[in-house]
Amino acid sequence: MLPSSFRAYVVNKALNGQVESRVEDRSAEELPPGEVTIAVAYSSLNYKDALAATGHPGVNRVFPHVPGVDAAGTVVQSGVYEWVPGDAVLVTGFDMGANRWGGWAELVRVPQSWVVPLPAGLSLRESMILGTAGFTAGLCVDALQRHGVLPQCGPVVVTGASGGVGSLAVAILAKLGYEVVAVTGKSTAHGLLRRLGACEILPRDAVDDPSGKPMLSGRWAGAVDTVGGNILSTVLRACRHSGCVAACGLAGGNQLTMTVYPFILRGITLAGIDAAWCPLDLRHEIWRRLAGPWKPEGLEALAQFERLDTIQPRIADILAGRITGRVVLEIAAESSAGAAS
Ligand SMILES: NC(=O)c1ccc[n+]([C@@H]2O[C@H](COP(=O)([O-])OP(=O)(O)OC[C@H]3O[C@@H](n4cnc5c(N)ncnc54)[C@H](OP(=O)(O)O)[C@@H]3O)[C@@H](O)[C@H]2O)c1
Repeated sequence: MLPSSFRAYVVNKALNGQVESRVEDRSAEELPPGEVTIAVAYSSLNYKDALAATGHPGVNRVFPHVPGVDAAGTVVQSGVYEWVPGDAVLVTGFDMGANRWGGWAELVRVPQSWVVPLPAGLSLRESMILGTAGFTAGLCVDALQRHGVLPQCGPVVVTGASGGVGSLAVAILAKLGYEVVAVTGKSTAHGLLRRLGACEILPRDAVDDPSGKPMLSGRWAGAVDTVGGNILSTVLRACRHSGCVAACGLAGGNQLTMTVYPFILRGITLAGIDAAWCPLDLRHEIWRRLAGPWKPEGLEALAQFERLDTIQPRIADILAGRITGRVVLEIAAESSAGAAS
């Protein structure tokens, strides 16, 4: 049964432009339109959520707002036959936590097509340790495979490797037998990255070439780049012939300054990744793989857990690039329907 009110992390902007946020009770009548209402068990903290929580206009312009691009929980109300109360489900991306209220709340309401059944092999908790970060890492690995970058082709470099997307990309690639080179600015993350399967760890400046040369000597078969800017330019210029770089992030900058030579002389592919609006067929397939053959070992070790009323300091941490692994929000206790099978 749908409760009449729910707790949510609410972001408000005052007339003077000051952004304030607090955990408060909201009426269920304030939920946006949609066929499926979910009692949220877990959500997570992604870079985009931190932008939303600090009122960044690139994510949301309408207040009050509830961040949270991820939610996993149990259906409590449904207007369509595809979903019934009690179904264990997850939602990542689309407009959730951006132009509509998101998963940092006890209830979320979404269009039915956004809902993914919790795949066998994942608990609700594990699905949010993965969350948008794991889904994005999965899309990056899928892009490398589609462009012929296979384990036997040579080393693959992952930038921003200690972050959410980066650490999960390292773990998935290593599980699939790739030789993974992890690039990190955190000396404290070396042990974790080794345990996830990285063969080599490089400091950021090793992939931040200042020379401006159109091409660098070919070092890698491919790359997962979560950083953007000159680091993206460097990995594109340092890929071997027919390499592919899956670019998903801008933690270090949104500009890309380079020549076309790597593309036309080495056949390099720049594969853009958009997890939010990923088509449904691919979305379901990636979640199936994440729950099965790609499921990283030791997911729990990658996560730190917070609640709605303890998340605040982690928001500043992720914006400053200080998070290692994933931050998961525990919203409500997990039901037996969400237990991993
Ligand atoms: N395209 C999509 O659909 C999609 C989906 C999810 C996320 N993203 C984007 O992907 C990026 C990573 O997201 P996330 O959730 O994994 O964030 P995150 O956990 O904060 O990871 C980002 C990592 O990048 C590195 N980094 C941060 N600032 C940097 C800088 N100035 N220069 C170089 N490296 C820096 C840090 O890793 P090290 O300390 O290890 O170097 C940091 O941990 C973000 O830009 C996010 O917006 C895109």
